[in-house]
Amino acid sequence: MRRKLVVANRKMNGSLPSNAAFLEGVLAGILDYHHADYAVCVPHPYLFQAEAILKGSPVAWGGQNMSRFASGAYTGSVSPRMLTEFGCQYVIIGHSERRQRGHDTDHAIGERFEVATQAGLKPILCIGETLAEYEEGMTDLVTIRQLNAVISEIGVKGLAGGVLSYEPVWAIGTGKAASAEHAQNVLSFLRGHIEMLDAEIAKNIQILYGGSVKAENAAKLFSMSDVDGVLVGAASLNTDEFVAICQAASNACV
Ligand code: 13P
Repeated sequence: MRRKLVVANRKMNGSLPSNAAFLEGVLAGILDYHHADYAVCVPHPYLFQAEAILKGSPVAWGGQNMSRFASGAYTGSVSPRMLTEFGCQYVIIGHSERRQRGHDTDHAIGERFEVATQAGLKPILCIGETLAEYEEGMTDLVTIRQLNAVISEIGVKGLAGGVLSYEPVWAIGTGKAASAEHAQNVLSFLRGHIEMLDAEIAKNIQILYGGSVKAENAAKLFSMSDVDGVLVGAASLNTDEFVAICQAASNACV
């Protein structure tokens, strides 16, 4: 059975003292919730702090982006090895906040996914449609295009090393989460697409939902058979709220 995974995407938030309070609060808060997996993706300068606080704990940590290159003249970029040097297990790839600003093309994201898995990281591949695309009924078309861009780089078996996250752009930071039914429909559609290519990969790959996940809607999302977890933005800035989401994930696995 696939385990549920709760990932905090802290985006460009935090400070040394507030991160410490959050990470220590999460560690204390999840003590009784052993049935799910947890990770926190922090801004790169805070990776050393995440490692210092989370090492040896049930909470993994990761970056929010990385370069597909090993080293070189790429000002402002971070290589996969830099992430693994700080103990990262995860890296978010292709978040819409990066795709939209033109930094990340489908092709570049595909390459990055492959490089991440080769470096021993688990990429969390974000895909999702904009509001205009949603309103035009293009959800399936857009998400499959984004997924296929990665599959064409690495082959369907390459997906085994990563996690997929459906994040409709219209639900991110808007407070308007997709309904659990919508999330289930899209995730089941994506899993069905992967299944046509490789049934084993489809059965095992964790597919998350992201977009205005809160304590209040988490349990319903986790009750859906294809929702293997959530990627949490704003609600991961509040320790109690994030711990409540972790609790809902763990309870859903009992
Ligand atoms: P919010 O939870 O703030 O909507 O952000 C979701 C997200 O972007 C996770 O990667």
